[in-house]
Amino acid sequence: MQEDQIRGQAIALNDVTKSWDGTLAVDRMNLNVEPGTFTVLLGPSGCGKSTSLRIIAGLEHADSGEIAIGGKSVGHLPPAKRDIAMVFQSYALFPHLSVAENILFGLKVRRASKADQRTRLNKTADLLGLSELLARKPSQLSGGQQQRVALGRAIIAEKPICLMDEPLSNLDAKLRNTMRTEIRDLQQALGFSMVYVTHDQAEAITMADQVVLMKEGRVEQSGTPREIYEQPATTFVAGFIGTPPMNVLPGSALAAATGQANANLDSITLGVRPEHVSVSEHSGVPAIVEHVEYLGADILADCRVGNEKFIARIEGHASLSPRAEVKLHWPAEQMHCFDRSTGERTPSDKDLFNHLLSA
Ligand SMILES: Nc1ncnc2c1ncn2[C@@H]1O[C@H](COP(=O)(O)OP(=O)(O)OP(=O)(O)O)[C@@H](O)[C@H]1O
Ligand SMILES: [Mg+2]
Repeated sequence: MQEDQIRGQAIALNDVTKSWDGTLAVDRMNLNVEPGTFTVLLGPSGCGKSTSLRIIAGLEHADSGEIAIGGKSVGHLPPAKRDIAMVFQSYALFPHLSVAENILFGLKVRRASKADQRTRLNKTADLLGLSELLARKPSQLSGGQQQRVALGRAIIAEKPICLMDEPLSNLDAKLRNTMRTEIRDLQQALGFSMVYVTHDQAEAITMADQVVLMKEGRVEQSGTPREIYEQPATTFVAGFIGTPPMNVLPGSALAAATGQANANLDSITLGVRPEHVSVSEHSGVPAIVEHVEYLGADILADCRVGNEKFIARIEGHASLSPRAEVKLHWPAEQMHCFDRSTGERTPSDKDLFNHLLSA
């Protein structure tokens, strides 16, 4: 495998800014992609993911800031000189060309030799499980197969960098899951550097070495999936990551619900993940169950703490009914704490939480 590997290149964005008619799309964006690693740009619609990707590709020009590939500044280079493969959201195969011709299209344009074309085509088709389908037209393929042809077209060129913009959004959930694994395996087997755009946090967490969560053109947090999940830097990250995401509520709401007024709670926002919550008969935060969603392995209980929504994910065989009055409990060390005015993570006060939860 080793000799087949592509040498992935590092990518760096340094304070990159881009606006359209005075509206900031990308705002002092910083990004570092290590060679041969998988980075996911994640964030809500309109946060600047595609614009950032297109700036790396050279399809858009940044207003300011620096873009470097393999340590060299490339801001002045046109897309073709950046040695990058790209898969767009609408992968648009040529309908009149066969699978083989679609995959080879870029190589033909670059006048690769016939023998070279054949070797690479066989290798790529083999890798993507398309060998039996090379003579078909795109209309004779399933959505997932078409998607793989689009991937084939990008990887056959064996570029050190591959950029993908929501490549799986047209597929159904099951196929999307399979393709996630396939793309990840492909990237690891070939060793190129990947920047992959999605607004699906589950996709980001499962695929990435590095997740870069964006909000309004800026990087809100970047880190490994585990760092982002376990140590969200802001309430925005906490509320974006996880299925369902972290419960986030004002400290004062918890104080009111437990009858434990404490001035320290007024200035903070508290966070706890649904899977860390258990239902206790004896002590904990009083809550009312509103809906119960049975998922098989576990149950999602939509509760209300005072006026705040609060979700608990508990074992599937537990019995809970709507309108039940319960007490919710969680380990004090699973409690996250954020500054209420800035939304930024602050150190937690375990004694305070133990006090609250013993109510
Ligand atoms: N060509 C353009 N002209 C004007 N405004 C644009 C253009 N392209 C993007 N924008 C604006 O820039 C902002 C960022 O857009 P971008 O496409 O990067 O978002 P995105 O994160 O990819 O969103 P989505 O998840 O919906 O694809 C948006 O407010 C968008 O309306
Ligand atoms: Mg986009």
